Amino acid sequence: MRKGFLAAAAAGLLATGSMAACGDNSADEESAGKTPKVGVILPDSKSSARWEGADRKFLEEAFKEAGVEADIQNAQGDKTQFQTIADQMITQGVTALMIVNLDSGTGKAVLDKAKSQGVATIDYDRLTLGGSAEYYVSFDNEAVGKLQGEGLVKCLTDGGVQNPSIVYLNGAPTDNNATLFKNGYDSVLKPKFDAGEYQQVADDSVPDWDNAQAATIFEQQLTKSGGKIDGVLAANDGLGNAAISVLKKNKLNGKVPVTGQDATPQGLQNILAGDQCMTVYKAIKQEAAAAAELAISLAKGERKETGQTVKDPESGRDVPAVLLTPQAIYKENVKDVIADGFVTKDEVCTEAYAELCASAGIS
Ligand code: BGC
Repeated sequence: MRKGFLAAAAAGLLATGSMAACGDNSADEESAGKTPKVGVILPDSKSSARWEGADRKFLEEAFKEAGVEADIQNAQGDKTQFQTIADQMITQGVTALMIVNLDSGTGKAVLDKAKSQGVATIDYDRLTLGGSAEYYVSFDNEAVGKLQGEGLVKCLTDGGVQNPSIVYLNGAPTDNNATLFKNGYDSVLKPKFDAGEYQQVADDSVPDWDNAQAATIFEQQLTKSGGKIDGVLAANDGLGNAAISVLKKNKLNGKVPVTGQDATPQGLQNILAGDQCMTVYKAIKQEAAAAAELAISLAKGERKETGQTVKDPESGRDVPAVLLTPQAIYKENVKDVIADGFVTKDEVCTEAYAELCASAGIS
């Protein structure tokens, strides 16, 4: 069902265009005719289970299927290490480099250096502001935030909560996606704050999406609000789980809706347990496939048309982009994420969750 739709959407967006038709093709020209070898740098393994749990797996699969050599590494949140990995990949002759930046400044340095060495580049998932990547492959990240805002409203409405007090746990201020997610949920919630229908009692960003810091920040939010928090807009499952752990200590879990993102096994378990209101599922298999396809074509010196661009707000550059569609997940459709092959039943339905899985129709 959805899988087919997304696959078609991703594939349909990519048509081979002529190299000559494009402006700056220095990287393409230098890599033309070489045997493709793609380097991928993932950001860390702590800010979300997705990077090692989903992106690595689906990227490996996509490159394997295409018979293309790939070197996938993880910078583990270390910007110096990120730069070192990039330098090594360039020295080892990658024909295309795909990065998930740790911040735009250091990401830009890596992209510019690669470009100067004739290596084509792709921004994977996060746009590097002021950067020089040939392509940006991600989801519609404002739509992600909108689903989170709508999800929180739905769960509060379902719970019959009047005039709720809301806190925000935003993602890293250095991640452009966090800005886009916030734009999305603000578009839903701000009118409610302005109308006095909802109260916003805290709006905090979590440096580096660090889950431990998120718990500390949420504890402070709870203290500041005198223990009265009715809803938590958490930007991903890790931040959501940090809030849930604090709510548990205060015997408030299950009473306060918390949002999330990434459909991680832990997030899905929190949803089944009733401690998390919703998550946002992003079919990373499609994201990895689209990025791999572009990386391979760049390595061959081709230039595919994506049919879409995003404007880099810093440089004003229109970056050719593939933006996939996210999906909201509530208790009722946790089963869809498993059916789509994103997580396995074994990962979600461990012993403690077996009954909850059965009653959610996961068999
Ligand atoms: C990604 C999210 C992820 C977060 C933390 C964002 O840029 O889009 O999927 O949860 O980073 O790693």
